[in-house]
Amino acid sequence: MRETIVVTGGAGYIGSHIGYLLAQKGYRVILLDKLLYHQNTTHFAWATVQVEDYGDAAALDALFKEHKVKAIVHCAAYIEVGHSVKEPHDFYDNNVVKTITLLDRMRAHNVPYIIFSSSSAVYGSPHVVPIPEDHPHNPISPYGNTKHIIELMLKDYDHAYGIKHVALRYFNAAGALAEQNLCEQRDPETHLVPLLIRSALTGEPFTIFGTNHPTPDGSCIRDYVHVIDIADAHVRALNHLIKGNPSDSFNLGTGSGISVREMIIAVERLYGLKLKIINADHRSFDLPIITLDAARAGDILGWESRNTTLHSMIASTYVSALRSAVYLSEDTRECIQ
Ligand code: UFG
Repeated sequence: MRETIVVTGGAGYIGSHIGYLLAQKGYRVILLDKLLYHQNTTHFAWATVQVEDYGDAAALDALFKEHKVKAIVHCAAYIEVGHSVKEPHDFYDNNVVKTITLLDRMRAHNVPYIIFSSSSAVYGSPHVVPIPEDHPHNPISPYGNTKHIIELMLKDYDHAYGIKHVALRYFNAAGALAEQNLCEQRDPETHLVPLLIRSALTGEPFTIFGTNHPTPDGSCIRDYVHVIDIADAHVRALNHLIKGNPSDSFNLGTGSGISVREMIIAVERLYGLKLKIINADHRSFDLPIITLDAARAGDILGWESRNTTLHSMIASTYVSALRSAVYLSEDTRECIQ
């Protein structure tokens, strides 16, 4: 019998890619999502979509009674760091309080495993890059605090109640499985690659947040990983726990960074255009450089960022944006769909 896996935030960008890969590997997939960002679920034929809040105890009880769930892949969260600074309540409530409910319902229904979509935001401003897993945790935003607190909770719930977890720490997923009509689509969009593609498709200007960071070209450096590699790590982490391995946490990254300006140049070269650029002040919560040492994920999970190239991340975002027609007017969208 196929094992059932519930992906919280499963209709979202990263959750849907994980769900798709789990379905391809033979798991029965339930995407649990309140459809805050993604109303269109027609592309998820390979899964069951359950429209509920992941922190709704009654909904979780009903779900766990109806299905014998093997594991949770926990992606649902508020993610925008700037918002977390302005409205920390929303983040502690949505990310932390609801995860306590989720863990307690897992306990009550004997769901043994959870893969947690954590973040390199748990490290805060790094002493060393690429950041290793044993780097101290010192988050600098409420968003990072929520991820750190959940990691602590997971350790305690393992110790006391035996729920096994893997926490995967990453920062910048990019790209999409365009051929499956999966895409990065959020309103408002805040992430670099989809915003650059939007500018390429519409001619809208792109704003660089900070041009005097202490980096070679003055713009921020991040460790972008193709979303399908991120999804692959979640599937590997799940199999790792099912095989009986202990709880663990792993970084996911390439170890080498790309600056905002390098990303702009790559988009311009690939599509033979010149983007309209606005140079703006840096945001208080943007760290100049974050890259991650993912050697342990390689050694223990056999994970590699094998699909991650600048070209694959940019081109698949471009194609997925065209396919989902995100940047077209309502009228045009109706004509081509
Ligand atoms: N950037 C710009 N202009 C924009 C958008 C982004 O210059 O319009 C820059 C940012 O300042 C940053 C880089 O592009 O230096 C990447 O920005 P993203 O928003 O794509 O990603 P962040 O590194 O800011 O955030 C990432 C994830 C978030 C997550 C955060 C903390 O993408 O979802 O890490 O884990 F919340």
